[in-house]
Amino acid sequence: MSQQMQARILFNEQVGPDVFRMVVEAPEIAKEVKSGQFFHVRCGAEYDPLLRRPISIHQYRSKTGELFFLYQVKGKGTALLSQMRPGEYVDLMGPLGNGFSLKKGNGLYVLVGGGIGIAPLLSVAQDIKKQGFEIVTLLGAQSRSHVYVEDDFRLYSDQIFIWTVDGSSGLKGLVTHMLPEVIRTCNINQILTCGPHGMLKEVAQQAMAANIPCQVSLEEKMGCGVGACLSCACSIKVPEDSAFTYKKVCVDGPVFEAEEVIWDEE
Ligand SMILES: Cc1cc2nc3c(=O)[nH]c(=O)nc-3n(C[C@H](O)[C@H](O)[C@H](O)COP(=O)(O)OP(=O)(O)OC[C@H]3O[C@@H](n4cnc5c(N)ncnc54)[C@H](O)[C@@H]3O)c2cc1C
Ligand code: FES
Repeated sequence: MSQQMQARILFNEQVGPDVFRMVVEAPEIAKEVKSGQFFHVRCGAEYDPLLRRPISIHQYRSKTGELFFLYQVKGKGTALLSQMRPGEYVDLMGPLGNGFSLKKGNGLYVLVGGGIGIAPLLSVAQDIKKQGFEIVTLLGAQSRSHVYVEDDFRLYSDQIFIWTVDGSSGLKGLVTHMLPEVIRTCNINQILTCGPHGMLKEVAQQAMAANIPCQVSLEEKMGCGVGACLSCACSIKVPEDSAFTYKKVCVDGPVFEAEEVIWDEE
C-alpha cells in the first residue's frame, strides 16, 4: 500500500554526466513494490519546488530492504536531489501506479529503453530472469556518455545491443532500427518499453503490426501523483469503439498496453 515515509539515503552516486543512482533504506516498502511503479519524491526541504517529482523504481532488493532510483538532472528538483548525501533522509510517497504485468508464454522478452527511460527496465529484467525467461535488451542513447548502467543490464540480458545516435558506442542509429529483425527472428512473449514518446510510438507500432503484446511506460508531468489534480491525463482508446477516454498516468498508468494509447497525439 502506498505511504509517505522518510527513507535513509545509503548512496547517491553519479553514474553519468548528468545521471545519479540513489539507494535508500525502505525495508517494508521494498517487499511490496512492483517493477514499473514509481515514487513521488520531495526534492528539497524548502517549498521550492513545491511539487514532488515522479521517479521510477530502478531496482529493489526485498532481502536487504533497499530501493534504487536512477535519475537524470533536468531542473531544480532533480538538481536538489543530486545534492543529497548518504545519511540524510528523503521524503518519498509511494509506491504509486500500476507497474508492468508480465505476459506468460514460451518465448522471450524484449526490453527497449531510450535515454533515462531505461531506469524502470532494470527492475523488470531482474523479475524476468528470476522466472527463468530469456531477455533481449535494446538500449538507445544519444552518445557513449549517455549509456548508463550497461553492465547491470548485461547481468540479466541474454543478448544486449547498444545503439547510439552518433555511433560513439555500439551500433549507430536509433534503437528501433533493430526491432524488426528481433521481431522476425525471435519468439517473443512480450515487448516492454520506456523512453521518449517518439521511440515508444515506433516500438508500439512495430509490436502491434506483428501482433506481439507490448506494454509502454508513459511520462506526463505530474502534480499530485494520486489521481486528484488531472495534470497527468492522457487519452486512451475505448475498447471496441472509436471513442476515447481520459486516463491518469499516475493511477491508471504509467504502464499501458500499446494498443490502448492514442499515438498520433503529441
Ligand atoms: C511515472 C514517471 C516516472 C519517471 N521516472 C523517472 C526516472 O526514473 N528517472 C528520471 O530521471 N526521470 C523520471 N521521470 C521524469 C522526472 O519526473 C522529471 O525529469 C522530473 O520531474 C524533472 O523535475 P525537475 O524539477 O528536475 O525539472 P523541472 O524544472 O520540473 O523540468 C525540467 C525539464 O523537464 C521537463 N519535465 C518535467 N517533468 C517531466 C515529466 N514528468 N516528463 C517529461 N518531462 C518532464 C520539463 O518540461 C522541463 O523541460 C519520470 C516521470 C514520470 C511521469
Ligand atoms: S498527477 Fe494529479 S491526477 Fe495524476
